[in-house]
Amino acid sequence: MRNYKLAAIPGDGIGPEVIDAGIEVLKALQACRGDFQISVQHFDWGSDYYRRNGRMMPENGLDQIRNMDAIYFGSAGDPDVPDHITLWGLRLAICQGFDQYANVRPARVLPGVSCPLAGYGPGDFDWVIVRENSEGEYAGVGGRAHQGHDAEVGMDVAVFTRSGVERIARFAFDLARTRPRKLLTMVTKSNAQRHGMVMWDSVFEKVRPDYPDVTMDKMLVDAMTTRMVLNPKSIDVVVASNLHADVLSDLAAALSGSLGIAPTANLNPGGNFPSMFEPIHGSAFDIMGKGVANPIGSFWSAVMMLEHLGEKAAAARLMTAIERVTAAGDAMPADLGGTATTGDVTAAVIAAINQENE
Ligand code: IPM
Ligand code: MG
Repeated sequence: MRNYKLAAIPGDGIGPEVIDAGIEVLKALQACRGDFQISVQHFDWGSDYYRRNGRMMPENGLDQIRNMDAIYFGSAGDPDVPDHITLWGLRLAICQGFDQYANVRPARVLPGVSCPLAGYGPGDFDWVIVRENSEGEYAGVGGRAHQGHDAEVGMDVAVFTRSGVERIARFAFDLARTRPRKLLTMVTKSNAQRHGMVMWDSVFEKVRPDYPDVTMDKMLVDAMTTRMVLNPKSIDVVVASNLHADVLSDLAAALSGSLGIAPTANLNPGGNFPSMFEPIHGSAFDIMGKGVANPIGSFWSAVMMLEHLGEKAAAARLMTAIERVTAAGDAMPADLGGTATTGDVTAAVIAAINQENE
């Protein structure tokens, strides 16, 4: 039997609540399928760890999880710790340390969920946003000088490398190729960002002939926000830089009905390092500890993890269970207009998983 080693890093805020729920669901899936096993090891890294130890994870943290098959991550962020510390000390340290250069963010309206766009609902759009996950404004290059003086300067340099752009281009074309519409929209801002983004354009044009079966179009990022709202059916796969896709993916999550649903995969496509799966929503301190967090983003992230591990049937079964629960509508969490607790949603999804047996 296949046995997967999973590193669970619940992190901050509602992270532990939704990761616990996700692990419960994975265990239920494992029990009813009986053809794979998931051994979970927990790591208590995050802002509490930071308060105790002065860092978000141990110095050899990456070594501790290097040989895992996957990482299941909750969130990092705390009202009392500066965001750049929580981000760079944990999540980005893992993404960059393990060269998880492809961030994949599907977005669609699940059955039973209402779309904030008038006239649109489930089935009307089905997008995948591919976010370059290793460079751009997130490369960490820049600095501050003359701090506290009038002459103070702060710079974040957007770093784009030809190899970095080419690998995300190929990843996005490969992904587009697997989908029925085979449509790829490449997003830049090459009118204003006249160096790195112009290079993006040229790298994509160079790669494009290798994928004659994929239709590629180009958009500037500002125009892309308009297209997402006004013409959502025209979109299939979208590829953009780290920062641009960060913004577009929040818009996509909102258009799918709630940030609480949206999943993400941070992939190291070559498989040299483990990939990491997490809900997009973040730590949501305002609802922390109340047991009302929506675990669907965490469950959908588990679907992406199972797909990545090659457990396609289990992944499909979990996605079907999630969609049955949202379609039925009687276990909707607050952000989807219901009153269900995290536990209620989890129990409903587990019941739906078991029901598929019958
Ligand atoms: C995301 C988040 C993060 C990001 C935050 C928490 C720094 O918004 O995963 O999209 O900007 O990458
Ligand atoms: Mg974001």
